[in-house]
Amino acid sequence: MLNTTHHGTMRSREAHERARSVLPGGNTRTSVYEAPFPIYLARGSGAYVYDIDGNRLLDLQNNFTALIHGHAHPEIATALAQQASLGVSFSSPTLAEIELAELLCARVPYFEQVRFTNTGSEAVMGAIKAARALTRRHKIAKCEGAYHGSYDPVEISFDSPPEAWGSNRPANVALHSGTPRSVLDEVVVIPFNDVELSREILDEEVGSLAAVIVDPMPARLGLIEATKEYLTFLREYTRRNSVILISDEVLTFRLDYPGASTRFGYEPDICAFGKIIGGGMPIGAIGGRKAVMSVFDPSERKPDVYFGGTFAANPMSMVGGCVAMNWMTPEAFTRLNALGDYARKAIAALFEREGTTGQVTGAGSLFRIHLKQGELGNYRDSYPTPQERQALRALVGHARENGVLLSPTGLGALSTPMSEQDVDVMVGVLGEALNALEPA
Ligand SMILES: Cc1ncc(COP(=O)(O)O)c(C=O)c1O
Repeated sequence: MLNTTHHGTMRSREAHERARSVLPGGNTRTSVYEAPFPIYLARGSGAYVYDIDGNRLLDLQNNFTALIHGHAHPEIATALAQQASLGVSFSSPTLAEIELAELLCARVPYFEQVRFTNTGSEAVMGAIKAARALTRRHKIAKCEGAYHGSYDPVEISFDSPPEAWGSNRPANVALHSGTPRSVLDEVVVIPFNDVELSREILDEEVGSLAAVIVDPMPARLGLIEATKEYLTFLREYTRRNSVILISDEVLTFRLDYPGASTRFGYEPDICAFGKIIGGGMPIGAIGGRKAVMSVFDPSERKPDVYFGGTFAANPMSMVGGCVAMNWMTPEAFTRLNALGDYARKAIAALFEREGTTGQVTGAGSLFRIHLKQGELGNYRDSYPTPQERQALRALVGHARENGVLLSPTGLGALSTPMSEQDVDVMVGVLGEALNALEPA
């Protein structure tokens, strides 16, 4: 048994009841909603978190992949405590902002300049505004099923259900009722990894297209890698047509020392990234060459893109980010990614051994469990049937009850304090969970 203590979850259940009266559904983040109630955490240390009932859980959520060092890394905690005693945010800039920018520009070959935001969603929003300012066009193309945060245009056709997909040519599907028609009209949805159909769709819109946004391994789409052919096509197509290519690496910047696009072998015009670069504090950033980044430059004239934010580049996020990223040396990435290989192999072997339907996708320190068969190349392939969704929910629930926290979508993210023993524990618990799933 993984748990050093197993006290039940009575306090979490009670906390959720309390939460329900003051938070809609007792929830703040739709993405982490769990029925009948989530567990409420009291603290974390390294690879583990402790809930308010005193249970210890191995944390593979790591705040939706943001916590690459797990919890309460001693140096990050010290740096944050020190900064808190000096002041948590100012209107004026601090030296930490320059330090983190220098660190990032030294890592990613095409980053000449960066601009900080509070979240990944804001980074995507800023990248899109920059693309529109640079091209004087307004439409944005994105892949069906890809999540790029909570900015209106990129919410189109994220999480769209099969009955709304349309033919193999993806329909534009609003995420919310009340989404203005004008938002739907400014988005071009293309099928991930399908060069021919994407080209056909883009060709029809190219005259008004400001940007194509692509995540080279979109988690919500299935944590499936974009093919080399697809990325090469998008890069060449956008360059030839003077369209801005935005790489969304908010989640996948975790894949490698020089970021995801460099690992995948392409250079976008703009990169939107975030999560791990704040050491656990809220953050986002936009990076690229000077010629592109100059749209944000207020020093010569009124900038093409006015983009502020009360908490952008606050010293807590900057300081936390500097410490966290300094620990992420190339060697640290190599070790963590090898642990990721170990985990994916072990999960794949588990499916083989148990003879249960399922597979694992991902790369680097990320994995996602799918309780389905067949090759997964795009959103539609990976979309779970109602039965598969229910089985996944049961799997994640069973794992949680036995001391392993996974994201509700079956996504897992490793952290540097983890070892092969931790992964073995997780795989053991998943094995039990798979057995428990066997049809009654
Ligand atoms: C690929 C991707 N883009 C954008 C975002 C939005 O980032 P944030 O939640 O920091 O706003 C996320 C968050 O999960 C993401 O995974």
